[in-house]
Amino acid sequence: MERTLIGDLRAKIGETVKIQGWLQTLRDQKKMQFLIMRDRTGLVQVAFWKGGSADLAAQISGLNVESALTITGKVVDNPIVKLGGLEVQLETLEVNALAESPVPFDPFAETLPMVDYRMDWRYMDLRRPESLLIFKAQTTAEAAMREFWLQHQFMEIHTPKIMGAPSESGAELFTLEYFDRKAFLAQSPQFYKQMAMAAGFENVFEIGPVFRADPSFTSRHMTEFTGVDMEMSWIDSHDDVMSFQERWLQYVYGRVKAAHGDEIKERLGYELVVPSVPFPRIQMAEAVQILKTMDYTLPPEKKGDIDPAGERLIGKYVKEKFDHDFVFLTDWPISVRPFYHMRYSDQPTITKSFDLLATGLEITTGAQREHRVDVLAKQAQEKGLHLEPIQYYLDFFRFGCPPHGGFGLGLSRLLMVMMGVQNIRETVYLFRGPNRLNP
Ligand code: 4AD
Ligand code: MG
Repeated sequence: MERTLIGDLRAKIGETVKIQGWLQTLRDQKKMQFLIMRDRTGLVQVAFWKGGSADLAAQISGLNVESALTITGKVVDNPIVKLGGLEVQLETLEVNALAESPVPFDPFAETLPMVDYRMDWRYMDLRRPESLLIFKAQTTAEAAMREFWLQHQFMEIHTPKIMGAPSESGAELFTLEYFDRKAFLAQSPQFYKQMAMAAGFENVFEIGPVFRADPSFTSRHMTEFTGVDMEMSWIDSHDDVMSFQERWLQYVYGRVKAAHGDEIKERLGYELVVPSVPFPRIQMAEAVQILKTMDYTLPPEKKGDIDPAGERLIGKYVKEKFDHDFVFLTDWPISVRPFYHMRYSDQPTITKSFDLLATGLEITTGAQREHRVDVLAKQAQEKGLHLEPIQYYLDFFRFGCPPHGGFGLGLSRLLMVMMGVQNIRETVYLFRGPNRLNP
């Protein structure tokens, strides 16, 4: 017999079906047994009259919750059953895997254990429909990203994650033994996606792992995350990158809302709003002034960089002033930007760069890149970098590289803001942080 998904049972009233899933609850009454079964499409009540078979009834009594079961039975319409107004009358039972008892925690309880404990048992935590929803939405979001890119003649690339030299600065770098020498884990695909510009690919994207030896313990930092990167050629300025990104994100939000908007509202209590374009843009110099009017001064040790509290305040300001969840903060001082960001020719201390904040959280950094090799080398030296280890990168620009720019976006951060989730540990399949390497 072919398996029927629980969500499709309504079409099978009167038929005998096979369902497969987990035993979520067992109510063992005097004459009847009720098993609530779950698969990825929903829940159904399965009923068994003990008088039918004492052996089978005893077997059911011995089941633990969360066991994996295959059940056959007849689907009957039963308006008094809360779960979809139908039930399955059990005929046969196969125990595929008996769960141990007790379970580490009940994923379906009103109150859940702290996130750190749930991460020890992440696969149990992922059995919650809320978790499942987050990863269904992630699948839709990534598919939508690719659709939009392919519609705009982008090519997908896969860059190496083992590198001979750091890819961003020297900070936050994981080192590994590589035969008789040292190698590094990629902190971003930055250098190699730019190589595709020199290669004449024109427009590229990559969705792949990014490693950061960042000892932060926050709700939004990980030591390994999925980076969503793109790079485009023949731009006039970083504004071309921003206007591409906002239309791309609008498309992604639209697809996720259409596919999961109702369920996100129901399960996560969050109203996913498709953003209007253009997104507001605020230059960093102005953002600093805005923060001052809100009685907030950026910590001087940040040297012109914005801190998380400042980001949240700007998010609030933009919401009040423009009724928008997104804002591009543009034109950052060179002190807080990497050497490869292009600078304004008439304002040599300001970069043609941007961050995208969503509800006050940084989800993207992007820029126009410096493609003139002499200028690039000079900027690297000014930042105190040795040219020798990055010579291979500088070489990319020696034989004709078009003006270009792009951005990097953290996938799990996007999912946080898209579904109103407060902790990145909930929007990543498996979290990696300074204290967590298992499971
Ligand atoms: O801002 P970042 O460091 O920028 C770059 O990597 C540049 N190469 C991008 C570019 O094209 N100019 O990282 C990009 C994004 C951040 O905005 C954030 O969303 C995410 O990656 N991110 C992290 N996500 C989780 N944990 C971390 N430790 C993250 N660090 C950055
Ligand atoms: Mg950044």
